[in-house]
Amino acid sequence: RIAGPSVLVIFGVTGDLATKKLMPAVYDLANRGLLPPGFALVGFARRDWADQDFAEIVHDAVQKHARTPFREEVWQQLIDGIRFVPGDFDDDAAFAQLKQTIIELDESRGTGGNHAFYLSIPPRFFENVVDQLRRHGMADQDGGRWRRVIIEKPFGHDLESARDLNRIVSSVFPSSSVFRIDHYLGKETVQNMLALRFANQMFDPIWNNNYIDQVQITMAEDIGIGGRAGYYDGIGAARDVIQNHLLQLLALTAMEEPTSFDARQLRTEKQKVLAATRPPADIDAHTARGRYTRAWAGGRNVRGYLEEEGISPDSITETYAAIRVDIDNRRWAGVPFYLRTGKRLARRTTEVALGFKRAPHLPFDNTDTEELGANALVMRIQPDEGITLRFGAKVPGTQMEIRQVNMDFAYGGSFTESSPEAYERLILDVLLGDPPLFPQHEEVELSWQILDPILQHWENSGMPPQDYAAGSWGPMVADEMMARDGHVWRRP
Ligand code: BG6
Repeated sequence: RIAGPSVLVIFGVTGDLATKKLMPAVYDLANRGLLPPGFALVGFARRDWADQDFAEIVHDAVQKHARTPFREEVWQQLIDGIRFVPGDFDDDAAFAQLKQTIIELDESRGTGGNHAFYLSIPPRFFENVVDQLRRHGMADQDGGRWRRVIIEKPFGHDLESARDLNRIVSSVFPSSSVFRIDHYLGKETVQNMLALRFANQMFDPIWNNNYIDQVQITMAEDIGIGGRAGYYDGIGAARDVIQNHLLQLLALTAMEEPTSFDARQLRTEKQKVLAATRPPADIDAHTARGRYTRAWAGGRNVRGYLEEEGISPDSITETYAAIRVDIDNRRWAGVPFYLRTGKRLARRTTEVALGFKRAPHLPFDNTDTEELGANALVMRIQPDEGITLRFGAKVPGTQMEIRQVNMDFAYGGSFTESSPEAYERLILDVLLGDPPLFPQHEEVELSWQILDPILQHWENSGMPPQDYAAGSWGPMVADEMMARDGHVWRRP
């Protein structure tokens, strides 16, 4: 799977994502031999840079963030195809220059007219950019060459704006040429969820409401919002993470088996399960919002959200969100799915935990532990990638005492192969035109349909989120929400 000759144009090269993920991913792909010698990278931004200046920016980003070691010969091959076009998104002349640059690269690097445009920019600029691409003939699909557009979340702010965005993009690019990035789908361990479920026979019989009591999907981060106030404030945890990453994890956990991993089959199954997923009837009782406050965390005093640079003191944006959803189908009826995410929590971890029902009869004396008989299967997405099965075992001794133990699979212990970073895999898939890992617009809409009533309810209430101390496991309301159902959050 090596990409063919092509040009990747990145709009928004001065942003955080381009620096930390996109440019390093391009280098890593080249370093792994997955990009052809003819590959070319073009940056577009409002900076007075020459090609050489941009090449230095890429060089710095690679030095700081690439996963693979720096090799001069790989860099030399890449740098020959690096160009920069300065300009605004409404600047006609800049797009004319972009077109000229690409045509020259097609000739000098033999890229065959195959171009991908990465919109690593706020969605409010999408319309300008895709319109410019259309007007300058850069979106034309004719002649056996391809033109693809890559867009990043947020895919809108709610259902309506997501539809508007889609209308804008699809007026220029056919849906088969639109690649929406949800980088969680590029993670090795997320893909392993499909292997666990569908490459084995032993899990399927228990993967339903006969055996499973509840599912907890957690994405906890120990970092704050960093320098992203402009993006984050007004968006918040639910839109930033639940709408995309967590609902995708839910879909992969709960969907039926696709007949193949062909994009159409996979998307159909994900869409079916998302369409059956509904928000809680009582939103106050089964959702929670929180906001971190100044505290001692991770060995230092960290500031609260309202004290972060660029956050207005009357912001009511949440940095923690938890929701319960239910899935109305035969497999999952009656099994609550709890989704939670937050910044500045006790530790960084992403996992999907399936909690099993208790055995119907427990012939043991020690009934002291709540956990007795409550098995769990935990798919650990990051950082300790692996799978844990938690079950009761006899404590050595003369008594029949039971304690919960872990049976662990750790990637590091079983495989020596290294895995590509999510963005590497996804950029490669775009260049190859391989669509299964990219959510389609229908999935995006379905996810907003689940979240919209919750967001509206929160907004109408006008209430600020409940405070939680940085470094803790979130606000009390989140624990109360679980207690209402007789559950507790896992402490991974
Ligand atoms: C992004 C969110 O999509 O995912 C960020 O916008 C978050 O707020 C990030 O920090 C987390 O990604 P990862 O791969 O580090 O889990």
